[in-house]
Amino acid sequence: MTEKTFLPQIDFVPATAEDYEEVMSISGGIYNGTDYLPFRYHAWLKDPKRRMFLAKCEGKVVGFESFLLVDDETTAVLEALRVAPWMRGYGVAGVIQTFCLDTLRSDHPKVKRVRLTRAENPPAALLTKYKVINSKAVVPILLPAGQLESTLKLLESRVKNLEKSQNLSLLEQEEVLKFFEESKIREDLLPGGLLVQGWLPLTTCRSNLDILLQRKIVWMYSHPGDSSASSSKDTTSCGGPNAYLEGFLSLSTPPFPVPLAERIHRLDIDLFGNDPSCAKVHILQQVKIRVPALPAGSGIICVLYADETLRTELDQLREGLTPFPIVREQMILEMEI
Ligand SMILES: CC(C)(COP(=O)(O)OP(=O)(O)OC[C@H]1O[C@@H](n2cnc3c(N)ncnc32)[C@H](O)[C@@H]1OP(=O)(O)O)[C@@H](O)C(=O)NCCC(=O)NCCS
Repeated sequence: MTEKTFLPQIDFVPATAEDYEEVMSISGGIYNGTDYLPFRYHAWLKDPKRRMFLAKCEGKVVGFESFLLVDDETTAVLEALRVAPWMRGYGVAGVIQTFCLDTLRSDHPKVKRVRLTRAENPPAALLTKYKVINSKAVVPILLPAGQLESTLKLLESRVKNLEKSQNLSLLEQEEVLKFFEESKIREDLLPGGLLVQGWLPLTTCRSNLDILLQRKIVWMYSHPGDSSASSSKDTTSCGGPNAYLEGFLSLSTPPFPVPLAERIHRLDIDLFGNDPSCAKVHILQQVKIRVPALPAGSGIICVLYADETLRTELDQLREGLTPFPIVREQMILEMEI
């Protein structure tokens, strides 16, 4: 338990567009310069399912937290927690959490559960309250500006089964809905039944899929066991029920600029499935789809989220490239309220 005797008075107010600079001023260096909040802040403010709060001390912003209502508004996902560097270690994060839970109980009584994602080794105090639902390996790959094409070529040379991209389908919106509606078995691809997209953990209920369908995600699906599958978009032709268990799904969000440096973009690729060669094919194809949309001279920090069993293979894929450590693991935590 944190020693809170020195904790000063903290007040909470809703975040507004005018607070942007002050929130950014307490956010320096978060996730090694790959923080998503600078890019998302204003869009988040417009989202009716999200609430954003500032923690203030003597009128100054000292903390930030937000929650998004998901799972038909029965779950709140907490996102983008941060405390000003000079206020860390005093228990402010705990006060912010308590405020969010109180707000959920009073303003959103339908919410029965809180979910969040954290990096490896979350604080012990957090683990006494939350249950760990799942964890994935996080493998960042840096494709530096000016070396993007050559790095891409190197990656390509390391992907052995490129012919597997013939079995790969890009799912259109209607197909995404069908994918999760018609074949419950496909949920076996999703550890803990959760579809995690760019750190946002969701069940596959229709209202959550609607949230994701607004995000310009590239949905890729392939069935590695099915040699007869063509490049047809008809994923239902991919084999019998057991074969689906071996399928592979990936999601990428449009790359977005991060504070690290000008023209550096972060590309999150969430991978679902265990087949290493399939994973590499998906990664390569996802990057190839995203690169042409970037401004000239851009670099990419490609962040892969994959089953832990794929870590060694993904490390080999990026061997010799400039290391870019962010975090090692993505953990999903959940608590009933
Ligand atoms: C992680 C961070 C928010 C911790 O803030 P802090 O105020 O220094 O944390 P403290 O250790 O003083 O506070 C301990 C209390 O906060 C809670 N807490 C600490 N880290 C937490 C975290 N990452 N998520 C949720 N709660 C957290 C603890 O459970 C504890 O609660 P309790 O007092 O009710 O038991 C802060 O270091 C920070 O802003 N880091 C950079 C951004 C970041 O890594 N954010 C977290 C992931 S989104």
